[in-house]
Amino acid sequence: MIIITGTTGGIGNYLFKTFVQKGEEVIGTYHLTKPVGKEFEHTTQVDITDIKQIELFVKKTQKQLNNITLINCAGITYNSFAHKADLNEWAHVINVNLNGTFYMIHSLLSLMREQNFGRIINLSSIVSQTGVMGTSAYAASKAGINSMIKSIAIENAQKGITVNNINLGYFKTGMINTIPSELQEKIKLKIALNDFGDPENIFKTIEYIRQTPYLTGACLDLNGGLF
Ligand SMILES: NC(=O)c1ccc[n+]([C@@H]2O[C@H](COP(=O)([O-])OP(=O)(O)OC[C@H]3O[C@@H](n4cnc5c(N)ncnc54)[C@H](OP(=O)(O)O)[C@@H]3O)[C@@H](O)[C@H]2O)c1
Repeated sequence: MIIITGTTGGIGNYLFKTFVQKGEEVIGTYHLTKPVGKEFEHTTQVDITDIKQIELFVKKTQKQLNNITLINCAGITYNSFAHKADLNEWAHVINVNLNGTFYMIHSLLSLMREQNFGRIINLSSIVSQTGVMGTSAYAASKAGINSMIKSIAIENAQKGITVNNINLGYFKTGMINTIPSELQEKIKLKIALNDFGDPENIFKTIEYIRQTPYLTGACLDLNGGLF
């Protein structure tokens, strides 16, 4: 069973549809608006910053939850120079991207440990490793999940559970649309492959992680050769 958060978002939506097309059992969650399409009929509303909502979601779906792959796609960004940052917005990014991702993992780990199997895959970002103006909150949140998984991987390695992140560069869907087009063109000049990534690459990387039990505690770069 695959669980995907953020299925209204560009990447989460693509991954959900692709896994359904491949005949996988997938449960999706959304935040504010239910994604459109018949395949999303049974998606559940979950705010990942609310541990009670997550626990209720796990309780309600528990019977279906076997051989779990958790794909944490939900995430937000907030653009501001540090000296001008709104502190509530800054904290909210940390709350969604770091705490929310941790709450999802925390709520499913006991079940994974009982079943001696689990795959946890978080979508992180190249921004956690490079300096990009205006992204202090986002970078800190993604660096947080990159560090966090190292401990969780060690704690659960003997239980058949792997925990990995994908450090995404820039992709053709989702958050990229919040970047002005002139800036998008400048970013492309810093990508060896000279284009934003097709989300199919994310799907293939997730499949590789799912099928590779010796891979854990890793952050894989997927960025078209960003330099
Ligand atoms: N696209 C890229 O190029 C790129 C690059 C690097 C990393 N990433 C990472 O990849 C992931 C997916 O990105 P994306 O481009 O698909 O982003 P997106 O289109 O902005 O989608 C983000 C999703 O997160 C959901 N979300 C926000 N707050 C939430 C909350 N409190 N509880 C539950 N869900 C919440 C949103 O739902 P609502 O809209 O309903 O709030 C939305 O479905 C993110 O973690 C992002 O940081 C993306």
